[in-house]
Amino acid sequence: MPRRKLIAANWKMYKTPAEARTFVDAFLPLVAGHTRDEIALFPSPVLLPAVVEALRGSQIAVGAQNIHFAEEGAYTGETSVWQVRAVGGTHTLIGHSERRQYFAETDEIVNKKLHTALKHGLVPVVCIGEVLGEREAGKTESVLRRQVTGGFAGVTGLAAEVVASIVIAYEPVWAIGTGRTATPQIAVDAHKIVRAEVAKLFGDAVAAGMRILYGGSVKPDNATALMSQDEIDGALVGGASLKPDSFAAIVKY
Ligand code: 13P
Repeated sequence: MPRRKLIAANWKMYKTPAEARTFVDAFLPLVAGHTRDEIALFPSPVLLPAVVEALRGSQIAVGAQNIHFAEEGAYTGETSVWQVRAVGGTHTLIGHSERRQYFAETDEIVNKKLHTALKHGLVPVVCIGEVLGEREAGKTESVLRRQVTGGFAGVTGLAAEVVASIVIAYEPVWAIGTGRTATPQIAVDAHKIVRAEVAKLFGDAVAAGMRILYGGSVKPDNATALMSQDEIDGALVGGASLKPDSFAAIVKY
């Protein structure tokens, strides 16, 4: 069965609630009737209630950009899985490279967050990807394999339908926010490495069903070339997702 693509917007630390509502008002008519792909928006936690409300009645999912691995507790400044669920979030990014780079998230932390998301029924989008130095040193494959095995530790024991909900986003760090996108071939090669590693952990059937998104300078003008690859199961879009027309153009590649 072909994998349905997921086109996701990572708004990072942008937009106020009013700006988010303005986006949704303009975006919904642009994608009305578009059922080919799944669409999800990942706004800052403070925007989640406004975005969920604005999207009510649509097919568009809303998720957090991050969760804490604890269910609740004395973790000033953090957001729990319960809080995300309580305001209507259904997805969460985990281990985005900016979390790894600026907030010291390791594969071990990613793994704990993944378990928490799965336990509470949030669809996790686990982000992986090499930095430029690793690619130039020929280490891309070993980095991706380490991120998959480390991030997915202990997941092999979970029920098949739980594992099947996991989404992976391959985001080469050198392509994020740089305007330097991976060529379709670079992305496909990386996805194949990731899928092979998933197959080692969970078997061929799970690997064949798992969605692997590409992220890193996806724009309207390169979306078709990337998204028309069978191996690429959607996009995680930063900068070009902030404007309704450019994100809609990517959704409708
Ligand atoms: P850009 O699309 O701005 O490169 O960001 C990609 C990204 O980090 C999505 O999570």
